[in-house]
Amino acid sequence: MKAIAVFPDKKEVRLIDHPEPKIESPNQAKLKMIDIGICGTDKEIVSFQYGTPPPGSDYLIIGHESLGEVVEVGSAVTDVNVGDIVITTVRRPCGNPACPACAAGRQDFCYTGEFTERGIKQQHGFMAEFTVDDAHYMNPLPAHLRSVGVLAEPLTIAEKGIAQVREVQQRLPWSGTHQAVVLGAGPVGLLGAMALRVAGFEVWVYSKTAPGDHRQQVTEAIGAKFINADATSIPDIVNELGGTLDVVYEAIGASKLAFDFLQALGPNGIFVFTGVPGRKAPVEVDTDLLMRNLVLKNQVMLGTVNAPKESFQAAIADLRIFHERWPEALGMLISNRFPLENALEPLSGKVGGIKNVVSVSS
Ligand code: BGC
Repeated sequence: MKAIAVFPDKKEVRLIDHPEPKIESPNQAKLKMIDIGICGTDKEIVSFQYGTPPPGSDYLIIGHESLGEVVEVGSAVTDVNVGDIVITTVRRPCGNPACPACAAGRQDFCYTGEFTERGIKQQHGFMAEFTVDDAHYMNPLPAHLRSVGVLAEPLTIAEKGIAQVREVQQRLPWSGTHQAVVLGAGPVGLLGAMALRVAGFEVWVYSKTAPGDHRQQVTEAIGAKFINADATSIPDIVNELGGTLDVVYEAIGASKLAFDFLQALGPNGIFVFTGVPGRKAPVEVDTDLLMRNLVLKNQVMLGTVNAPKESFQAAIADLRIFHERWPEALGMLISNRFPLENALEPLSGKVGGIKNVVSVSS
């Protein structure tokens, strides 16, 4: 079958011919891939900064944001049926007996770092014609979400972050406040903004993109407010929010900007980091101010990566709501589609847009 693979040692990325996977245990199911989304992690992998092939292989098939159709199931499979469209989770447990997180099925909280990830770390990914996996990792989606189902994986990042915001807010017996600033209008930012709107938040999306872009249209269509980064200072934003910054959901990956916002976080505020910045030169921050604020204002900052099965379920439920409330805005998140043969084009990072998708089959 055809697949897109990165060869880290040879520093090559290309379309390859790879043996079509077969069901090898009764718990597995086989998928015909439909769509695979491309994100910043993929771009890091194809520029050889990240990513590890499976043991014994000199290449890694990339792709972790997936949508596939079940074409065959093993004899013990009960989670999915032939014909279902599904999204498959990314991370697999480390199997180390010393890791209670993986033992509890919460490999997104793995302690050892020995976890594997499909399309990222030691397991082939989904940018191929077919894949096989344990059906337990597959999550069926309603058939009418087929054209946008590939957005579910990036949405899981937001779901896990927002679930933690809710948990932290439980410390406030009056249910906390419901204003959130989203930093960044990429897929994780805009999907996060949609999920925050569904969760009842008033939302501001802070973006460096020029006004009038699709990102602004999506923001406004979901009833959030667009903040043009070049025209608005952080104190202006705080003013507009009524003087306090309660929840910041970072999805911009720029540490300097994130820490500038962190300095402006208000009493009982929560700051959620989801971005993974490239390592550049050190940046100076006022650590005394940050630490005083954290303590004197009861603030919480948390980082969040990957997502458990329950976030995949939450993402599917939310995607259904987004599709009902804002079908056009949701569709606008997918900017371009490319056939598998042309996947290198969007992977190069030279194609603009919000989410670029490789469509393997329709
Ligand atoms: C994926 C996560 C993964 C992380 C780190 C992200 O792009 O969405 O599932 O854990 O990269 O590899």
